[in-house]
Amino acid sequence: MTTLWVTGANGVLGWAVTRQAEASGVYDRIVALGHSSVGQSDPRAAITWQPLDLADHDAIAATAQAHPPSVIINCAAMTNVDKCETERELAWRINAEGPRTLAQVAREAGAPLLHVSTDYVFPGDEAAPGPYREDDPVRPVSEYGRSKLGGEQAIIEELGSAHPWLIARTAIVIGTGPNQRPNFVTWVARELRAGKRLKIVTDQYNTPTLADDLARLLLWSARAGATGVYHAAGPTYLGRHEWALAIADHFGLPRDHFDWVTSAELNQPARRPLRSGLRCERLAADQARGAPTFLGAIECLSETDWGLDF
Ligand SMILES: NC(=O)c1ccc[n+]([C@@H]2O[C@H](COP(=O)([O-])OP(=O)(O)OC[C@H]3O[C@@H](n4cnc5c(N)ncnc54)[C@H](OP(=O)(O)O)[C@@H]3O)[C@@H](O)[C@H]2O)c1
Repeated sequence: MTTLWVTGANGVLGWAVTRQAEASGVYDRIVALGHSSVGQSDPRAAITWQPLDLADHDAIAATAQAHPPSVIINCAAMTNVDKCETERELAWRINAEGPRTLAQVAREAGAPLLHVSTDYVFPGDEAAPGPYREDDPVRPVSEYGRSKLGGEQAIIEELGSAHPWLIARTAIVIGTGPNQRPNFVTWVARELRAGKRLKIVTDQYNTPTLADDLARLLLWSARAGATGVYHAAGPTYLGRHEWALAIADHFGLPRDHFDWVTSAELNQPARRPLRSGLRCERLAADQARGAPTFLGAIECLSETDWGLDF
């Protein structure tokens, strides 16, 4: 019996992984671990929904006893960057200690651990701007980034070279489908459609990523046995302001309802890496042996059903 664990199964990425894993027929059972119970409204035969708090070490161990994993894909995280800044202890429990416990479970079960991390482990400042390669020096500028880096380090400490692990760093994940929170594309489109004005930053550059592409990469990696640190993001490097204009154009919405601001003007609790994004040369090389191609932020506008009724 092959059992895939997907943590964060209610999230943007976790939902895409769960759905694709079920459709692939590769796993006998998918244990979809959600923090809240949202996904349970979509019962499917191969999917066992279970609540799991990644901050609860004992609960993770008990879940491992009940449903020993063959593969673990960790899509769960405290992803609210500003909340991580103000609730540091919780951020570290979920983003750093949670992955450590998963690594221990993976080792005991003999299961590869595929963990999702972030470009926010890099500074994105003028001294060392992105986009970044896998071996560029890390230097997070927010508590979210520091706690996610803590998760990477915990996995490497626990598993070292003796047990297979993959740390897939990604950037600005956007997804579609049920249970999804608004993403940049749907937010911009809906607000413009409602006639509202939007404040958009002109100084944040990144490589946005479709959740479905990243889910395909994770499931391919599990089959192909890819290990180590791996950058997995969309191929288009662009500014939020350029993306917002492309979204307006794509949906035939006005271009003059944007108020352009700098990140500093937004006065958010957490600092953002401004020149961030990921270079994915390893991914490009692996495409010759079956790794999926990723859509860029502009191409995906016309290639995706955004679930908008206009
Ligand atoms: N979103 C981005 O732009 C972005 C960019 C770079 C990297 N990443 C990384 O990509 C991965 C997937 O993120 P995403 O975009 O899918 O984010 P998401 O939609 O916010 O999903 C994260 C999931 O984590 C779950 N979670 C939160 N606290 C938890 C806890 N204490 N125990 C168990 N589960 C918990 C949430 O569960 P409930 O919904 O059930 O509460 C949520 O479903 C994360 O590792 C994130 O750091 C995301």
